[in-house]
Amino acid sequence: MSVTNEISPDTPTAWWRDAAIYQVYIRSFADGNGDGIGDLAGVRARLPYLADLGIDAIWFCPWYPSPMDDGGYDVSDFRDIEPTFGTLEEAELLIAEAHELGIRIIIDIVPNHASDEHPWFKAALAAGPGSPERERFWFRPGRGENGELPPNDWQSRFGGPAWTRVADGEWFLHLYSSRQPDFNWTNPEVHAEFIDILKFWFDRGIDGFRIDVADGLIKDPSLPDVHGATTGPLPYSDMDGVHEVYRAWRKISDSYPGERIFVGEMWLPDPIRFARYLRPDEMHSAFNFDFLSCPWEAKRLREVIQSSMDSHSLVGAPPTWVLSNHDVTRHVTRYGRSGDTGFEFADRRHGTPVDRDLGTRRARAAALLTMALPGGVYVYQGEELGLWEIEDIPDELRQDPVFERTKHADPGRDGCRVPIPWGDTKPPFSFGTGGSWLPQPQEWAAYTAEAEAADPDSMLSLYRKALHIRRDEPALGDGEMSWAMSLADVIAFNRDPGFTCMVNLSAEPVPLPRHESIILASGPLQGDQLPPDTAVWLRTY
Ligand code: GLC
Repeated sequence: MSVTNEISPDTPTAWWRDAAIYQVYIRSFADGNGDGIGDLAGVRARLPYLADLGIDAIWFCPWYPSPMDDGGYDVSDFRDIEPTFGTLEEAELLIAEAHELGIRIIIDIVPNHASDEHPWFKAALAAGPGSPERERFWFRPGRGENGELPPNDWQSRFGGPAWTRVADGEWFLHLYSSRQPDFNWTNPEVHAEFIDILKFWFDRGIDGFRIDVADGLIKDPSLPDVHGATTGPLPYSDMDGVHEVYRAWRKISDSYPGERIFVGEMWLPDPIRFARYLRPDEMHSAFNFDFLSCPWEAKRLREVIQSSMDSHSLVGAPPTWVLSNHDVTRHVTRYGRSGDTGFEFADRRHGTPVDRDLGTRRARAAALLTMALPGGVYVYQGEELGLWEIEDIPDELRQDPVFERTKHADPGRDGCRVPIPWGDTKPPFSFGTGGSWLPQPQEWAAYTAEAEAADPDSMLSLYRKALHIRRDEPALGDGEMSWAMSLADVIAFNRDPGFTCMVNLSAEPVPLPRHESIILASGPLQGDQLPPDTAVWLRTY
Protein backbone atom coordinates (compact mmCIF):
# COMPACT_ATOMS: atom_id res chain seq x y z
CA MET A 1 0.00 0.00 0.00
CA SER A 2 1.20 3.44 -0.79
CA VAL A 3 -0.27 5.59 1.95
CA THR A 4 1.92 6.56 4.85
CA ASN A 5 0.90 8.51 7.89
CA GLU A 6 2.73 11.60 6.78
CA ILE A 7 1.00 13.94 4.44
CA SER A 8 3.71 15.86 2.73
CA PRO A 9 2.91 17.81 -0.41
CA ASP A 10 6.29 16.88 -1.84
CA THR A 11 6.05 13.09 -1.74
CA PRO A 12 4.33 11.53 -4.72
CA THR A 13 2.26 8.64 -3.38
CA ALA A 14 -0.67 8.05 -5.74
CA TRP A 15 -2.47 7.72 -2.42
CA TRP A 16 -5.85 7.94 -4.10
CA ARG A 17 -5.32 4.78 -6.17
CA ASP A 18 -6.11 2.58 -3.20
CA ALA A 19 -7.29 4.86 -0.42
CA ALA A 20 -9.91 3.77 2.09
CA ILE A 21 -12.21 6.80 2.16
CA TYR A 22 -14.75 7.32 4.93
CA GLN A 23 -17.88 9.27 4.05
CA VAL A 24 -19.11 11.73 6.65
CA TYR A 25 -22.67 13.01 6.33
CA ILE A 26 -22.03 15.85 8.76
CA ARG A 27 -25.46 16.48 10.23
CA SER A 28 -25.71 12.83 11.27
CA PHE A 29 -22.14 12.12 12.34
CA ALA A 30 -21.56 13.76 15.75
CA ASP A 31 -23.04 16.80 17.42
CA GLY A 32 -20.53 18.97 19.28
CA ASN A 33 -22.81 21.81 20.42
CA GLY A 34 -25.90 19.97 21.63
CA ASP A 35 -28.42 21.24 19.07
CA GLY A 36 -29.28 17.75 17.81
CA ILE A 37 -27.47 18.31 14.49
CA GLY A 38 -24.00 17.03 13.68
CA ASP A 39 -21.27 19.62 13.18
CA LEU A 40 -17.56 20.20 12.65
CA ALA A 41 -16.87 20.26 16.39
CA GLY A 42 -18.39 16.78 16.53
CA VAL A 43 -16.16 15.60 13.70
CA ARG A 44 -13.04 17.08 15.28
CA ALA A 45 -13.78 15.26 18.52
CA ARG A 46 -14.11 11.97 16.64
CA LEU A 47 -11.00 12.26 14.46
CA PRO A 48 -9.05 9.87 16.74
CA TYR A 49 -11.81 7.28 16.19
CA LEU A 50 -11.38 7.63 12.43
CA ALA A 51 -7.59 7.41 12.70
CA ASP A 52 -7.94 4.20 14.76
CA LEU A 53 -10.35 2.80 12.23
CA GLY A 54 -7.55 2.93 9.68
CA ILE A 55 -8.97 5.12 6.95
CA ASP A 56 -6.87 7.29 4.65
CA ALA A 57 -9.26 10.12 3.86
CA ILE A 58 -12.64 11.59 4.77
CA TRP A 59 -15.16 12.70 2.19
CA PHE A 60 -17.48 15.32 3.63
CA CYS A 61 -20.94 15.72 2.16
CA PRO A 62 -21.59 19.45 1.51
CA TRP A 63 -20.61 21.64 4.43
CA TYR A 64 -21.57 24.95 2.83
CA PRO A 65 -24.28 27.37 4.00
CA SER A 66 -27.56 25.88 2.90
CA PRO A 67 -31.28 26.10 3.66
CA MET A 68 -31.01 22.26 3.89
CA ASP A 69 -33.87 21.59 1.53
CA ASP A 70 -31.77 18.70 0.17
CA GLY A 71 -29.52 18.04 3.14
CA GLY A 72 -26.91 20.59 2.04
CA TYR A 73 -26.89 19.70 -1.68
CA ASP A 74 -28.69 23.03 -2.06
CA VAL A 75 -25.74 25.39 -1.58
CA SER A 76 -26.25 29.11 -1.00
CA ASP A 77 -22.56 30.04 -0.64
CA PHE A 78 -19.75 27.85 -1.98
CA ARG A 79 -17.05 29.71 -0.02
CA ASP A 80 -18.19 29.33 3.57
CA ILE A 81 -19.39 26.82 6.17
CA GLU A 82 -23.00 26.19 7.13
CA PRO A 83 -23.43 28.07 10.46
CA THR A 84 -25.13 25.10 12.16
CA PHE A 85 -22.00 23.09 11.27
CA GLY A 86 -19.45 25.70 12.38
CA THR A 87 -17.15 28.28 10.85
CA LEU A 88 -14.52 28.52 8.16
CA GLU A 89 -11.87 28.78 10.89
CA GLU A 90 -13.07 25.50 12.36
CA ALA A 91 -12.93 23.87 8.94
CA GLU A 92 -9.32 25.02 8.60
CA LEU A 93 -8.49 23.60 12.02
CA LEU A 94 -10.21 20.36 11.11
CA ILE A 95 -8.19 20.07 7.89
CA ALA A 96 -4.95 20.64 9.81
CA GLU A 97 -5.85 18.21 12.60
CA ALA A 98 -6.85 15.51 10.15
CA HIS A 99 -3.60 15.97 8.23
CA GLU A 100 -1.64 15.55 11.45
CA LEU A 101 -3.35 12.20 11.91
CA GLY A 102 -2.50 11.19 8.34
CA ILE A 103 -6.07 11.65 7.11
CA ARG A 104 -6.76 13.53 3.90
CA ILE A 105 -9.85 15.67 3.31
CA ILE A 106 -12.16 15.51 0.33
CA ILE A 107 -15.14 17.84 0.15
CA ASP A 108 -18.26 17.73 -1.96
CA ILE A 109 -18.70 20.24 -4.75
CA VAL A 110 -22.14 20.70 -6.29
CA PRO A 111 -21.66 22.24 -9.75
CA ASN A 112 -24.95 21.20 -11.31
CA HIS A 113 -27.13 23.46 -9.22
CA ALA A 114 -27.34 25.94 -6.37
CA SER A 115 -29.89 26.73 -3.70
CA ASP A 116 -32.67 29.14 -4.59
CA GLU A 117 -31.12 31.25 -1.81
CA HIS A 118 -27.81 31.57 -3.66
CA PRO A 119 -27.19 35.28 -4.40
CA TRP A 120 -26.98 34.59 -8.14
CA PHE A 121 -30.45 33.06 -8.17
CA LYS A 122 -31.89 35.86 -6.09
CA ALA A 123 -30.30 38.35 -8.50
CA ALA A 124 -31.75 36.42 -11.45
CA LEU A 125 -35.24 36.58 -10.00
CA ALA A 126 -34.89 40.30 -9.31
CA ALA A 127 -33.39 41.16 -12.71
CA GLY A 128 -36.21 39.64 -14.74
CA PRO A 129 -36.52 37.99 -18.17
CA GLY A 130 -33.76 38.55 -20.71
CA SER A 131 -31.22 39.74 -18.12
CA PRO A 132 -27.63 38.48 -17.95
CA GLU A 133 -28.39 37.35 -14.38
CA ARG A 134 -30.98 34.89 -15.72
CA GLU A 135 -28.40 33.53 -18.20
CA ARG A 136 -26.55 31.84 -15.32
CA PHE A 137 -29.52 29.46 -14.95
CA TRP A 138 -32.04 27.95 -17.35
CA PHE A 139 -34.95 30.36 -17.52
CA ARG A 140 -37.43 29.90 -20.36
CA PRO A 141 -40.94 31.00 -21.25
CA GLY A 142 -43.54 28.28 -20.87
CA ARG A 143 -45.52 26.48 -23.54
CA GLY A 144 -49.27 26.70 -23.97
CA GLU A 145 -51.36 29.70 -24.86
CA ASN A 146 -50.29 31.74 -21.86
CA GLY A 147 -47.02 30.01 -21.08
CA GLU A 148 -48.80 28.00 -18.43
CA LEU A 149 -47.08 24.73 -19.37
CA PRO A 150 -43.44 23.85 -18.60
CA PRO A 151 -40.97 24.52 -21.44
CA ASN A 152 -40.41 20.77 -21.95
CA ASP A 153 -41.34 17.38 -20.50
CA TRP A 154 -38.28 16.79 -18.31
CA GLN A 155 -39.02 15.31 -14.90
CA SER A 156 -37.19 16.12 -11.68
CA ARG A 157 -35.16 13.20 -10.30
CA PHE A 158 -36.98 13.85 -7.04
CA GLY A 159 -40.40 13.53 -8.67
CA GLY A 160 -42.70 16.01 -10.45
CA PRO A 161 -41.78 18.35 -13.32
CA ALA A 162 -38.21 19.64 -13.64
CA TRP A 163 -39.52 23.20 -14.11
CA THR A 164 -41.00 25.72 -11.70
CA ARG A 165 -42.70 28.95 -12.72
CA VAL A 166 -41.72 32.27 -11.16
CA ALA A 167 -43.89 35.33 -10.55
CA ASP A 168 -43.14 37.03 -13.89
CA GLY A 169 -44.25 33.93 -15.81
CA GLU A 170 -40.87 32.42 -16.79
CA TRP A 171 -39.93 28.92 -15.76
CA PHE A 172 -36.57 27.71 -14.43
CA LEU A 173 -35.03 24.27 -14.72
CA HIS A 174 -34.21 22.06 -11.73
CA LEU A 175 -33.26 18.43 -12.21
CA TYR A 176 -33.69 18.00 -8.44
CA SER A 177 -35.96 19.91 -6.04
CA SER A 178 -37.60 23.19 -7.00
CA ARG A 179 -35.22 24.82 -4.51
CA GLN A 180 -32.18 23.66 -6.56
CA PRO A 181 -32.03 25.68 -9.81
CA ASP A 182 -29.62 24.19 -12.39
CA PHE A 183 -26.68 26.30 -13.49
CA ASN A 184 -26.29 27.07 -17.17
CA TRP A 185 -22.83 25.76 -18.03
CA THR A 186 -22.91 27.28 -21.51
CA ASN A 187 -22.28 30.55 -19.68
CA PRO A 188 -18.53 31.23 -19.20
CA GLU A 189 -19.29 33.03 -15.93
CA VAL A 190 -20.36 29.71 -14.42
CA HIS A 191 -17.08 28.07 -15.49
CA ALA A 192 -15.03 30.91 -14.06
CA GLU A 193 -16.96 30.86 -10.79
CA PHE A 194 -16.30 27.17 -10.18
CA ILE A 195 -12.62 27.42 -11.05
CA ASP A 196 -12.40 30.12 -8.43
CA ILE A 197 -14.28 27.97 -5.88
CA LEU A 198 -11.91 25.05 -6.49
CA LYS A 199 -8.94 27.32 -5.84
CA PHE A 200 -10.57 28.76 -2.73
CA TRP A 201 -10.67 25.30 -1.11
CA PHE A 202 -7.42 23.95 -2.53
CA ASP A 203 -5.77 27.04 -1.04
CA ARG A 204 -7.21 25.95 2.33
CA GLY A 205 -5.46 22.62 2.07
CA ILE A 206 -8.17 20.21 1.00
CA ASP A 207 -6.97 17.14 -0.88
CA GLY A 208 -9.81 16.70 -3.30
CA PHE A 209 -13.40 17.13 -4.38
CA ARG A 210 -16.23 14.68 -4.76
CA ILE A 211 -18.17 15.97 -7.75
CA ASP A 212 -21.94 15.81 -7.30
CA VAL A 213 -24.03 14.80 -10.34
CA ALA A 214 -20.83 14.98 -12.38
CA ASP A 215 -22.48 13.83 -15.62
CA GLY A 216 -25.27 16.39 -15.47
CA LEU A 217 -23.69 19.81 -15.99
CA ILE A 218 -24.13 20.17 -19.71
CA LYS A 219 -27.61 20.26 -21.21
CA ASP A 220 -28.59 20.17 -24.85
CA PRO A 221 -29.39 23.89 -25.26
CA SER A 222 -32.36 23.10 -27.48
CA LEU A 223 -33.91 21.45 -24.39
CA PRO A 224 -35.68 18.74 -26.39
CA ASP A 225 -38.51 16.63 -24.94
CA VAL A 226 -37.49 13.17 -23.75
CA HIS A 227 -40.92 11.50 -24.04
CA GLY A 228 -40.62 9.64 -20.77
CA ALA A 229 -37.07 8.32 -21.27
CA THR A 230 -35.02 8.04 -18.10
CA THR A 231 -32.05 6.09 -19.50
CA GLY A 232 -30.18 5.98 -22.78
CA PRO A 233 -28.86 9.16 -24.32
CA LEU A 234 -30.51 11.99 -22.42
CA PRO A 235 -30.18 15.71 -23.20
CA TYR A 236 -29.18 16.40 -19.58
CA SER A 237 -26.80 13.58 -18.76
CA ASP A 238 -23.39 12.52 -20.04
CA MET A 239 -23.31 15.10 -22.84
CA ASP A 240 -19.90 15.14 -24.49
CA GLY A 241 -19.21 18.75 -23.52
CA VAL A 242 -18.98 17.83 -19.85
CA HIS A 243 -15.48 16.45 -20.34
CA GLU A 244 -14.16 19.89 -21.19
CA VAL A 245 -15.18 21.02 -17.71
CA TYR A 246 -13.15 18.30 -16.02
CA ARG A 247 -10.15 18.82 -18.27
CA ALA A 248 -10.09 22.42 -17.12
CA TRP A 249 -10.52 21.37 -13.50
CA ARG A 250 -7.73 18.80 -13.72
CA LYS A 251 -5.35 21.55 -14.79
CA ILE A 252 -6.20 23.35 -11.56
CA SER A 253 -5.73 20.35 -9.28
CA ASP A 254 -2.45 19.47 -11.02
CA SER A 255 -1.17 22.98 -10.43
CA TYR A 256 -1.24 22.39 -6.64
CA PRO A 257 1.47 20.59 -4.69
CA GLY A 258 0.75 17.04 -3.54
CA GLU A 259 -1.87 14.96 -5.25
CA ARG A 260 -5.22 16.73 -5.16
CA ILE A 261 -7.97 14.66 -6.64
CA PHE A 262 -11.46 14.53 -8.12
CA VAL A 263 -13.93 11.72 -7.44
CA GLY A 264 -16.98 11.67 -9.68
CA GLU A 265 -20.57 10.79 -8.92
CA MET A 266 -21.98 9.44 -12.18
CA TRP A 267 -24.83 6.93 -12.28
CA LEU A 268 -24.30 5.77 -15.87
CA PRO A 269 -25.44 2.49 -17.38
CA ASP A 270 -22.53 2.13 -19.83
CA PRO A 271 -19.15 1.28 -18.23
CA ILE A 272 -17.26 2.53 -21.27
CA ARG A 273 -18.96 5.94 -21.24
CA PHE A 274 -18.29 5.98 -17.50
CA ALA A 275 -14.57 5.33 -17.98
CA ARG A 276 -14.29 8.38 -20.25
CA TYR A 277 -14.52 10.54 -17.12
CA LEU A 278 -11.41 8.83 -15.78
CA ARG A 279 -9.09 9.53 -18.68
CA PRO A 280 -5.70 10.73 -17.46
CA ASP A 281 -6.53 14.40 -17.99
CA GLU A 282 -9.95 14.26 -16.27
CA MET A 283 -10.99 12.85 -12.87
CA HIS A 284 -8.90 10.50 -10.78
CA SER A 285 -11.63 8.10 -9.74
CA ALA A 286 -15.37 7.63 -9.41
CA PHE A 287 -17.89 5.70 -7.37
CA ASN A 288 -18.65 2.21 -8.58
CA PHE A 289 -22.44 2.18 -8.44
CA ASP A 290 -22.74 -0.98 -10.55
CA PHE A 291 -21.07 -2.80 -7.69
CA LEU A 292 -23.17 -1.03 -5.05
CA SER A 293 -26.42 -1.86 -6.85
CA CYS A 294 -25.53 -5.48 -7.56
CA PRO A 295 -27.51 -8.17 -5.73
CA TRP A 296 -25.71 -10.60 -3.43
CA GLU A 297 -25.21 -13.24 -6.14
CA ALA A 298 -21.84 -14.69 -7.06
CA LYS A 299 -22.28 -14.71 -10.82
CA ARG A 300 -23.50 -11.13 -11.06
CA LEU A 301 -20.93 -9.83 -8.61
CA ARG A 302 -18.15 -11.56 -10.56
CA GLU A 303 -19.43 -9.98 -13.77
CA VAL A 304 -19.56 -6.51 -12.21
CA ILE A 305 -16.07 -6.90 -10.74
CA GLN A 306 -14.68 -8.02 -14.08
CA SER A 307 -16.40 -5.31 -16.08
CA SER A 308 -15.24 -2.69 -13.58
CA MET A 309 -11.66 -3.91 -13.87
CA ASP A 310 -11.89 -3.96 -17.68
CA SER A 311 -13.42 -0.52 -18.14
CA HIS A 312 -11.06 1.13 -15.68
CA SER A 313 -8.02 -0.50 -17.19
CA LEU A 314 -8.89 1.08 -20.55
CA VAL A 315 -7.95 4.43 -19.05
CA GLY A 316 -5.47 3.29 -16.39
CA ALA A 317 -7.74 4.36 -13.53
CA PRO A 318 -8.22 2.41 -10.29
CA PRO A 319 -11.72 1.05 -9.67
CA THR A 320 -13.51 1.78 -6.40
CA TRP A 321 -15.71 -0.49 -4.33
CA VAL A 322 -18.73 1.02 -2.64
CA LEU A 323 -21.45 -0.70 -0.61
CA SER A 324 -23.51 2.19 0.78
CA ASN A 325 -23.85 5.97 0.85
CA HIS A 326 -26.25 8.70 1.97
CA ASP A 327 -28.59 8.12 -0.99
CA VAL A 328 -29.15 4.37 -0.89
CA THR A 329 -30.67 1.75 1.40
CA ARG A 330 -28.05 0.53 3.87
CA HIS A 331 -26.59 -2.77 2.69
CA VAL A 332 -27.23 -4.78 5.89
CA THR A 333 -30.90 -4.30 5.04
CA ARG A 334 -30.56 -4.90 1.31
CA TYR A 335 -28.54 -8.07 1.72
CA GLY A 336 -30.94 -9.41 4.34
CA ARG A 337 -34.02 -9.03 2.19
CA SER A 338 -36.00 -11.92 0.87
CA GLY A 339 -36.04 -11.75 -2.93
CA ASP A 340 -34.04 -9.07 -4.71
CA THR A 341 -30.98 -7.93 -2.74
CA GLY A 342 -29.92 -5.27 -5.26
CA PHE A 343 -30.54 -1.52 -5.11
CA GLU A 344 -32.68 0.60 -7.39
CA PHE A 345 -33.77 4.21 -6.99
CA ALA A 346 -37.01 3.39 -8.74
CA ASP A 347 -38.12 1.14 -5.88
CA ARG A 348 -36.61 1.24 -2.41
CA ARG A 349 -38.81 -1.70 -1.39
CA HIS A 350 -39.28 -0.46 2.15
CA GLY A 351 -41.38 -2.97 4.05
CA THR A 352 -39.76 -6.02 2.40
CA PRO A 353 -39.08 -8.66 5.09
CA VAL A 354 -35.46 -8.52 6.27
CA ASP A 355 -33.42 -11.21 7.98
CA ARG A 356 -31.02 -8.87 9.71
CA ASP A 357 -28.67 -11.62 10.91
CA LEU A 358 -28.29 -12.81 7.34
CA GLY A 359 -27.84 -9.23 6.10
CA THR A 360 -25.18 -8.64 8.73
CA ARG A 361 -23.31 -11.84 7.88
CA ARG A 362 -23.30 -10.86 4.24
CA ALA A 363 -22.27 -7.29 5.04
CA ARG A 364 -19.27 -8.65 6.97
CA ALA A 365 -18.33 -10.84 4.02
CA ALA A 366 -18.86 -7.95 1.58
CA ALA A 367 -16.51 -5.75 3.63
CA LEU A 368 -13.68 -8.27 3.23
CA LEU A 369 -14.51 -8.66 -0.46
CA THR A 370 -14.33 -4.91 -1.18
CA MET A 371 -11.19 -4.40 0.86
CA ALA A 372 -9.37 -7.19 -0.96
CA LEU A 373 -10.18 -5.99 -4.49
CA PRO A 374 -7.71 -3.78 -6.36
CA GLY A 375 -8.39 -0.05 -6.09
CA GLY A 376 -10.06 2.25 -3.61
CA VAL A 377 -12.72 1.48 -1.05
CA TYR A 378 -15.45 3.65 0.51
CA VAL A 379 -16.97 3.28 3.97
CA TYR A 380 -20.21 5.16 4.65
CA GLN A 381 -20.49 6.32 8.26
CA GLY A 382 -22.19 3.70 10.38
CA GLU A 383 -21.50 0.83 8.04
CA GLU A 384 -18.52 -0.04 10.23
CA LEU A 385 -21.03 -0.44 13.09
CA GLY A 386 -23.32 -2.65 11.01
CA LEU A 387 -26.19 -0.14 11.07
CA TRP A 388 -29.26 -0.92 9.03
CA GLU A 389 -31.87 1.16 7.22
CA ILE A 390 -34.44 2.73 9.54
CA GLU A 391 -37.69 2.25 7.68
CA ASP A 392 -40.19 3.31 10.35
CA ILE A 393 -39.37 7.02 10.68
CA PRO A 394 -42.72 8.75 11.31
CA ASP A 395 -43.90 10.60 8.19
CA GLU A 396 -43.96 13.97 9.92
CA LEU A 397 -40.26 13.66 10.79
CA ARG A 398 -39.08 12.75 7.29
CA GLN A 399 -36.92 15.51 5.82
CA ASP A 400 -35.84 14.28 2.40
CA PRO A 401 -37.64 16.31 -0.31
CA VAL A 402 -38.04 13.07 -2.28
CA PHE A 403 -40.78 12.01 0.16
CA GLU A 404 -42.99 15.05 -0.50
CA ARG A 405 -42.17 15.44 -4.19
CA THR A 406 -43.19 11.84 -4.90
CA LYS A 407 -46.35 12.36 -2.83
CA HIS A 408 -45.03 9.79 -0.34
CA ALA A 409 -44.62 7.07 -2.99
CA ASP A 410 -40.87 7.03 -2.28
CA PRO A 411 -39.94 7.09 1.43
CA GLY A 412 -36.75 8.97 0.55
CA ARG A 413 -33.29 8.70 2.02
CA ASP A 414 -33.74 9.58 5.68
CA GLY A 415 -33.52 5.93 6.69
CA CYS A 416 -29.79 5.77 5.93
CA ARG A 417 -29.12 9.19 7.51
CA VAL A 418 -30.11 8.52 11.10
CA PRO A 419 -27.50 9.95 13.51
CA ILE A 420 -24.67 7.67 14.57
CA PRO A 421 -24.79 5.95 17.97
CA TRP A 422 -21.51 6.57 19.76
CA GLY A 423 -22.09 5.36 23.33
CA ASP A 424 -24.54 5.19 26.24
CA THR A 425 -27.56 2.91 26.32
CA LYS A 426 -30.37 5.16 25.18
CA PRO A 427 -30.96 7.73 22.43
CA PRO A 428 -29.26 9.90 21.36
CA PHE A 429 -26.48 7.42 22.20
CA SER A 430 -23.88 10.17 22.79
CA PHE A 431 -24.50 11.57 19.31
CA GLY A 432 -24.66 14.79 21.29
CA THR A 433 -26.35 16.17 24.36
CA GLY A 434 -29.38 17.63 22.62
CA GLY A 435 -31.25 14.74 21.04
CA SER A 436 -30.92 13.84 17.37
CA TRP A 437 -32.63 15.33 14.34
CA LEU A 438 -33.95 11.93 13.28
CA PRO A 439 -34.98 9.32 15.87
CA GLN A 440 -32.64 6.38 16.55
CA PRO A 441 -33.97 2.93 17.45
CA GLN A 442 -33.42 1.66 21.00
CA GLU A 443 -31.82 -1.48 19.52
CA TRP A 444 -28.81 0.62 18.60
CA ALA A 445 -27.74 0.40 22.27
CA ALA A 446 -25.86 -2.74 21.24
CA TYR A 447 -24.42 -1.06 18.12
CA THR A 448 -22.72 1.99 19.58
CA ALA A 449 -19.07 2.58 18.73
CA GLU A 450 -18.31 2.19 22.44
CA ALA A 451 -20.10 -1.14 22.79
CA GLU A 452 -18.57 -2.49 19.60
CA ALA A 453 -15.06 -1.35 20.43
CA ALA A 454 -15.21 -3.63 23.48
CA ASP A 455 -16.33 -6.65 21.46
CA PRO A 456 -13.68 -8.42 19.36
CA ASP A 457 -16.40 -10.01 17.22
CA SER A 458 -18.25 -6.80 16.39
CA MET A 459 -18.52 -5.23 12.95
CA LEU A 460 -16.33 -2.39 14.18
CA SER A 461 -13.58 -4.77 15.25
CA LEU A 462 -13.78 -6.49 11.87
CA TYR A 463 -13.49 -3.18 9.98
CA ARG A 464 -10.58 -2.05 12.14
CA LYS A 465 -8.67 -5.26 11.64
CA ALA A 466 -9.42 -5.44 7.94
CA LEU A 467 -8.51 -1.81 7.20
CA HIS A 468 -5.24 -2.09 9.11
CA ILE A 469 -4.30 -5.36 7.42
CA ARG A 470 -5.23 -3.86 4.06
CA ARG A 471 -2.90 -0.96 4.69
CA ASP A 472 0.05 -3.15 5.71
CA GLU A 473 -0.43 -6.05 3.33
CA PRO A 474 1.73 -5.70 0.20
CA ALA A 475 -0.72 -7.74 -1.91
CA LEU A 476 -3.65 -5.42 -1.23
CA GLY A 477 -4.58 -2.00 -2.52
CA ASP A 478 -3.67 -0.92 -6.03
CA GLY A 479 -2.60 -3.57 -8.52
CA GLU A 480 -3.82 -6.68 -10.25
CA MET A 481 -5.93 -9.68 -9.28
CA SER A 482 -6.59 -13.03 -10.90
CA TRP A 483 -9.65 -15.22 -10.49
CA ALA A 484 -9.06 -18.51 -8.70
CA MET A 485 -10.82 -21.74 -9.62
CA SER A 486 -14.00 -21.97 -7.60
CA LEU A 487 -17.48 -23.41 -7.43
CA ALA A 488 -20.19 -21.43 -9.21
CA ASP A 489 -21.52 -19.67 -6.12
CA VAL A 490 -18.13 -18.85 -4.70
CA ILE A 491 -16.04 -15.78 -5.48
CA ALA A 492 -12.32 -16.45 -5.18
CA PHE A 493 -9.35 -14.46 -6.41
CA ASN A 494 -5.64 -14.20 -5.84
CA ARG A 495 -3.46 -11.19 -5.30
CA ASP A 496 0.31 -11.27 -5.42
CA PRO A 497 2.24 -11.99 -3.38
CA GLY A 498 0.57 -14.91 -1.67
CA PHE A 499 -2.94 -13.73 -0.91
CA THR A 500 -6.34 -15.26 -1.65
CA CYS A 501 -9.80 -13.88 -0.92
CA MET A 502 -12.70 -16.32 -0.97
CA VAL A 503 -16.37 -15.53 -0.41
CA ASN A 504 -19.02 -18.22 -0.15
CA LEU A 505 -22.38 -17.06 -1.55
CA SER A 506 -23.79 -20.58 -1.77
CA ALA A 507 -26.09 -22.23 0.75
CA GLU A 508 -23.53 -24.91 1.76
CA PRO A 509 -20.11 -24.80 3.40
CA VAL A 510 -17.26 -25.11 0.89
CA PRO A 511 -13.72 -26.39 1.45
CA LEU A 512 -10.95 -23.83 1.80
CA PRO A 513 -8.22 -24.02 -0.83
CA ARG A 514 -4.67 -24.96 0.16
CA HIS A 515 -3.23 -22.18 2.27
CA GLU A 516 -0.45 -21.41 4.68
CA SER A 517 -2.56 -19.53 7.22
CA ILE A 518 -5.78 -17.67 7.75
CA ILE A 519 -5.31 -13.91 7.86
CA LEU A 520 -8.87 -12.89 8.66
CA ALA A 521 -12.38 -14.29 8.33
CA SER A 522 -15.69 -12.45 8.39
CA GLY A 523 -17.26 -15.10 10.65
CA PRO A 524 -16.43 -18.41 12.33
CA LEU A 525 -15.12 -21.14 10.03
CA GLN A 526 -16.25 -24.76 10.29
CA GLY A 527 -12.91 -26.52 10.49
CA ASP A 528 -11.50 -26.40 6.99
CA GLN A 529 -14.82 -25.29 5.53
CA LEU A 530 -16.01 -21.78 4.69
CA PRO A 531 -19.66 -21.43 5.81
CA PRO A 532 -22.30 -19.71 3.63
CA ASP A 533 -22.18 -15.89 3.44
CA THR A 534 -18.69 -15.79 4.88
CA ALA A 535 -15.43 -14.43 3.45
CA VAL A 536 -11.87 -15.31 4.30
CA TRP A 537 -8.46 -13.85 3.58
CA LEU A 538 -5.79 -16.52 3.21
CA ARG A 539 -2.02 -16.44 3.11
CA THR A 540 -1.09 -18.73 0.26
CA TYR A 541 2.20 -20.20 -0.85
C1 GLC B 1 -26.34 13.57 -5.55
C2 GLC B 1 -26.26 13.49 -4.05
C3 GLC B 1 -27.65 13.52 -3.49
C4 GLC B 1 -28.30 14.82 -3.90
C5 GLC B 1 -28.28 15.00 -5.42
C6 GLC B 1 -28.61 16.40 -5.81
O1 GLC B 1 -26.93 12.47 -6.12
O2 GLC B 1 -25.55 12.34 -3.67
O3 GLC B 1 -27.67 13.38 -2.11
O4 GLC B 1 -29.63 14.85 -3.46
O5 GLC B 1 -26.99 14.75 -5.93
O6 GLC B 1 -27.60 17.28 -5.42
